[in-house]
Amino acid sequence: MKSKNISFTYSEYGSLEELDPGDRELLLSACKAAENAYAPYSHFKVGAAVRLESGVVISGGNVENAAFPSGICAERNALANASSNHPGDKPVALAIAASTASGLTEDTVSPCGNCRQVIAEEEMRNGNKIRVILGSSKKVRVIESAGDLLPMQFNRNDLEVTLH
Ligand code: THU
Repeated sequence: MKSKNISFTYSEYGSLEELDPGDRELLLSACKAAENAYAPYSHFKVGAAVRLESGVVISGGNVENAAFPSGICAERNALANASSNHPGDKPVALAIAASTASGLTEDTVSPCGNCRQVIAEEEMRNGNKIRVILGSSKKVRVIESAGDLLPMQFNRNDLEVTLH
C-alpha cells in the first residue's frame, strides 16, 4: 500500500484592487451578471463571466425554476452561451461572484460539483487551462486551472471511445 496525496496551490488577494486588470475586469463582469440573475427561490444571485481566447467576455447568472432541478447555475449558463455563440473560441478564464440581500458574499463561492464537471470538460475539449477567479467582498481567490477543483475527474479518457 502507498499513501498518495493530491494538493494544489492557489492565490488569495485581500481586495479586487490587487488583481491584474484583466482578472479585475472579468470579476466585475461576474458581479454585474449576478444583478441579472433570476433567483426568486434561493435569493442567492450568482454571476459568472467567461473570458474567451479572443478577449470576448460572456456572462450569465443563475436562472431558477419552480421545478427546482430545472434551474441552471450561472457558470453553466455562461459557458453554454459561450460554446453556442462563439464556437471554437476557447474559454481561458472564468470569474464567479454571488450576492444575497446584504450584498456581495463575504466569502468566495466555489462552483458546485455539476459545474466543476462542465468546466473540466471545457478544459479537456480545448486542451487549455481555465483560470478560475472567485470573488467576494473580503477576498479574491485565483485558481490557475479549473481541473484543480476536480481531482480524479471523470472525463472522456474514462469512456475509451473515439471522438467524432
Ligand atoms: N448556484 C450557482 O449559480 N452557482 C454555483 O456555483 C453555486 C450555486 C446557484 C444555484 C441556485 O440557483 C442558487 O445558486 C442556490 O444554490
